[in-house]
Amino acid sequence: MQEIRDLVRAAAEKARQETSEEPEPKFTGTVEFPVDCAVGRGLEGAIATDTKIGYVNGTKGWLVYRGYEIFDLAQFSTFEETSYLLLYGKLPTSSELAAFDKKLKEYRNVPASVIQVLKEMPIKDTHPMSALRTAVSFLGNLDGTADDTSVEAEREVSIKLIALFPALAGAVARLRKGQEPVQPKGDHTLAQTLLYTMTGKEPDELNARLMDINLILHADHGMNASTFTTMVCNSSLSDMYGSVVAGIASLKGPLHGGANEQVLYTLEEIGSEGNVEPWYEKARAEKRKIMGMGHRVYKAYDPRARILGPLAAALCEDHPEVAEIYKIAVKLEKIVTDQLGAEKKIFPNVDYYSGIVYRAMGIETAMFTPIFAVSRVSGWTARALEYLETNRIFRPRAIYTGPVAAEYVPIEKR
Ligand code: ACO
Repeated sequence: MQEIRDLVRAAAEKARQETSEEPEPKFTGTVEFPVDCAVGRGLEGAIATDTKIGYVNGTKGWLVYRGYEIFDLAQFSTFEETSYLLLYGKLPTSSELAAFDKKLKEYRNVPASVIQVLKEMPIKDTHPMSALRTAVSFLGNLDGTADDTSVEAEREVSIKLIALFPALAGAVARLRKGQEPVQPKGDHTLAQTLLYTMTGKEPDELNARLMDINLILHADHGMNASTFTTMVCNSSLSDMYGSVVAGIASLKGPLHGGANEQVLYTLEEIGSEGNVEPWYEKARAEKRKIMGMGHRVYKAYDPRARILGPLAAALCEDHPEVAEIYKIAVKLEKIVTDQLGAEKKIFPNVDYYSGIVYRAMGIETAMFTPIFAVSRVSGWTARALEYLETNRIFRPRAIYTGPVAAEYVPIEKR
């Protein structure tokens, strides 16, 4: 396979060449509340807070974490370093990274009682995100510090969660297949731990790097539904475990993180390149959303899809089992972007090609969204912590459209 770094560099170059000249509505700079903004349904356009963590320029298709472009992080960083960057606001020095990594390794083992809880549920018939949600909730019951809502205590819990998620997801993956979980081992990175605890096999270098890049790409993305959910929950001074549980529940949905598995089911449903057009016509007639396409913020090509698409293409060389699915995806992308790109600004999002990459790595489709959670927990916690520093409970209003002076009628007279 072509050097991964070259592929990412080429994707960055393409993104630069194709950057829209259109200006974005102003989402940077200083802000003073109350702020005037036009708000659409689903809080579209609403300014809920200010942040230094990350920025999505949806018009140009840019994504930055703490000022660093996603293309640079994907080429040069690791998920550990990126998580540190999100949590602490700066790239670590070698000794800071070593200390952070030491903590991650200390916290990474899944307690036996959590494995027992997973075994108690009908795990083969439980969506892995639901299993993960329960496991994280139970972890909170085991941690005596969970109810300390100081920034320092919640930061420590955040590191514990970032450390634990790979082996938790790994345990869920194995139990689903009737296999005993394995604990993390040795000097494995978080990406290697995820792969090792899912398969029980030593991950090779290529798969480990591919997973690392996937984790970097999914780590943070503005006020998306699951991040906002996590922040809303944490803003009541609940606890970080519960807030992350809420984030997992939100990410599971097919309109959000759950789209990555739906893309694979869609491509399988289409079945062949020849069926793409008739399938698309029927889907449009039925007003079906094309999974992995469209985005509330991106009205341009998602930079993460710019990286994942070429990675999927390169993997096809050595993985003929995904080549047909990839060809279907490319053809569907062309039809959708030709027909809806100019008018509705519908382009592939991060979920469109990630599943093909995971499929080539031999990962079960139902595990795609839990892998997303393994990554996004760093963004969820970083943003919840940042907000906690100047916390104010989230509490929007709804416009009431019902009656206001209804007369109460006793039940026997209704
Ligand atoms: N396929 C076809 N048409 C679409 C799609 C799509 N995937 N997405 C949006 N549209 C159309 C809508 O039908 C609508 O058309 P209309 O104006 O004629 O009614 C218009 O584009 C605007 O769409 P909304 O649904 O209002 O956009 P919204 O911002 O509410 O939704 C969302 C964004 C949920 C991502 C949507 O594009 C979607 O459902 N996509 C498919 C699911 C998906 O891939 N989700 C993952 C997003 S990335 C992430 O969360 C990790």
